[in-house]
Amino acid sequence: MCGIVGYIGNKRAVKILFNGLKRLEYRGYDSSGIAVINDKLERFRSVGKINELLQKVNKIKILGNIGIAHTRWATHGKPSNENSHPHFDCANNFAVVHNGIIENYQELKNELLTENHKFTSETDTEVVAHLLEKYYKETTNFFEAAKLTFKRLIGSFALCIISKYEPNKIICCREGSPLVLGLGKSENFVASDILALLPYTRNMIFLDEKEIAVISADKIEVFDFNGVKHTKAITEINWDAILAEKKEYKHYMLKEIFEQPDVIFETIDNKLDEENYNIIFNHLNLTNDYFKSINKVYIVACGTAWHAGLIGKYYLEEFCNMYVEAAIASEFRYRNVPISKNDLIIVISQSGETADSLAALRKAKKLGAKSLAVCNVRGSTLTREADGVIYTNAGPEIGVASTKAFTTQVTVMYLLSLYIAKIKNTISDDKYKNYIDELLLIPNKIREILEDYNSLKDLSLTFHNFKNFLYLGRHFNYPIALEGALKLKEISYIHAEGYASGEMKHGPIALITEEMPVVIIAVKSFISEKVISNLQEVKARDGITIVITNEDVDIPDDLIDYKIILPDTIEPLSPLLSVIPLQVLAYQIADFLGCDVDQPRNLAKSVTVE
Ligand code: F6R
Repeated sequence: MCGIVGYIGNKRAVKILFNGLKRLEYRGYDSSGIAVINDKLERFRSVGKINELLQKVNKIKILGNIGIAHTRWATHGKPSNENSHPHFDCANNFAVVHNGIIENYQELKNELLTENHKFTSETDTEVVAHLLEKYYKETTNFFEAAKLTFKRLIGSFALCIISKYEPNKIICCREGSPLVLGLGKSENFVASDILALLPYTRNMIFLDEKEIAVISADKIEVFDFNGVKHTKAITEINWDAILAEKKEYKHYMLKEIFEQPDVIFETIDNKLDEENYNIIFNHLNLTNDYFKSINKVYIVACGTAWHAGLIGKYYLEEFCNMYVEAAIASEFRYRNVPISKNDLIIVISQSGETADSLAALRKAKKLGAKSLAVCNVRGSTLTREADGVIYTNAGPEIGVASTKAFTTQVTVMYLLSLYIAKIKNTISDDKYKNYIDELLLIPNKIREILEDYNSLKDLSLTFHNFKNFLYLGRHFNYPIALEGALKLKEISYIHAEGYASGEMKHGPIALITEEMPVVIIAVKSFISEKVISNLQEVKARDGITIVITNEDVDIPDDLIDYKIILPDTIEPLSPLLSVIPLQVLAYQIADFLGCDVDQPRNLAKSVTVE
C-alpha cells in the first residue's frame, strides 16, 4: 500500500526522503513522488520504480531542508504522473501526500469545482490540496486551514502537508491510517512505517486517531481536530535496523525463510521459563478466571495470518476443548455474529494495521468481547486497541509474501493454547511438558530442512513451467495446503488451489490430469490412511504427486512421483515443518520465472484500506 515519508531539519531533505522511500518499497507501489521547499515548492513524480524518480531528481541538485515523499498504490485513477502524489492546489502553494481513501471526495470535488478550482488528477487526494487553498484564503494560517480541511474529510487517511506560506513546518494528521513521528536532534521525521525512520532515530511518537501533528525542526506538537493540545509518550524502538537489511541473500523473502529457526526460537524463548515449563505472556491483561469463563473464541485475520488462525483453532479445540471459529476479517466485520462479553476475539496480524482486521476488532469490542492481539509490530494500531497483546518476535518482515511472521504466529497460537489448557486443566502435566519439549526441538528441525535447500531446486526447476497446482492437506495440515497454494500464486502468478484433502472428491478431482501437479501433505498422523486414499485417487487419474511426508509413513512407492521427507515431530507441530518446503518451492519457482519476489505485482505488504 502507499507509503509516506516527511523530513524537516538541517540536512538535504531529498536524500533522506529517498532513503525512506526505499525502505518503504516492500509495501508495494506503482508510482512515487517527492516535494521539497527551497525558494519555491518543487515537485517530481514518476510511474514505476523509485529508481526512475531518482534518475529524474538526480539530474538537478535539489536543495531544501523540508520535504515530503510518497509511494502510491493506485486506488482512484490508474498509475500515471498526474495521479502520483504529492498533489498541489491551483496556485502551487500546498503539497499533499495521502494514504487511505477519502470517501466523500466526489462531493467535495463538486463543491470545489463550482468555486473554480482546477483539478489535474483523478485522485481523491487532490481535494485536500484545494480545500487547504480555500481555507487558507479565509484564515491566512496554515494550521487553521489544515484543521478546517481535516474536519471536512470522511474516510481513512494519513495526510502529510507542506506549504510555501509557512515553510518551517510539516502538518500531518491521522484517521484510520497509521503515521509515526520520529524525533531527532534539530531535525524531525514522519512516516507511515517505522522502518523508514530506523536509520535516523529510535525515538518515535505514534499518532492516534483524529490527531494532528505540527512538526518543525526543533519540536513536535500534537493536537486533536479542534486544536486542543495532547501530551504524547515517546516510544523507543528496539528493532535493529540491521535486521531489516538483505545481507547476502538474493531476496528478503529468502532471508526471512532462513531466519525462521532463529525467530521461532526467539518467540518461544521470550515467553517460556524453561526450567519450570511456565509460559509467560507479559502483555496479556486477561485473568485466569476470564480464560475459565470463555464461551467462544473468534480468531480473526486475513490471508496468511488467517491460515495461522485456522491452525490456532485446531490447537484450541484439541488442547482446551473450546468452541472456536477462525473467521476471515473482511467477512466477520459485516456478519451478524452473536458476540457477548464471555467471548474472546483473537486478532492475528503481522503489521497490526490491516484495515479489515482492525474493523473486526472494533466490532467485537463494541459488542462486549474481550480482545487479544497476536502481532509483530510494536506500537501498531492493533496492539494499542486490543485488551491484551502477544508479540511474535519475527523482526521486520520485508518480503510481501509472509513467511517468518506466519511460523511465529503459529508458534504463539501453540503456546497460547497450551497456556489456556493448563488453566482449564484440559491437558495432563506429562503431555504439556512433552508438547513444550517438542516445540523446543522445532528450530533445529527447520534448520535440517533448510540444509536441503539446494536439492529442492531440482524439484522447482521441474515444475516451474506448470500452469496449475493443487495443494491438499488434512487436519492440522489443511491450513498448510491453503498457505502453500497462496505462497505459490502470490509470488509466481501460477494458479494454485489449496483444499482439505477430504474435499477433493467433492469437486476439485475433476481438475486432475497428467498436467496437474498435486502437492500432498501426508505426514505422520492419526488419519494418515485417509490421506493415502486421497493419494490413490489422484494417481488413479494420472495426477503428478509431490508428497511431503515422514520417513516412517508407509506410502506405496507407486503413489509417489516426488517425495520430500521431513524430520519427525508430534502431529500438532507438523505444520511448522511442512510449510517450510512449500515456502521454498514457491520462492524457487518464482525466482526461476524471473518474478519480482519481494514486491509481487498488485500486492501490498500492509493492507490499510478495505
Ligand atoms: C500473504 C500475506 C498476506 C497477509 C495479509 C494480512 O503472504 O502476507 O496474506 O498475511 O494481508 O496481513 P497482516 O498479517 O499484516 O494483517
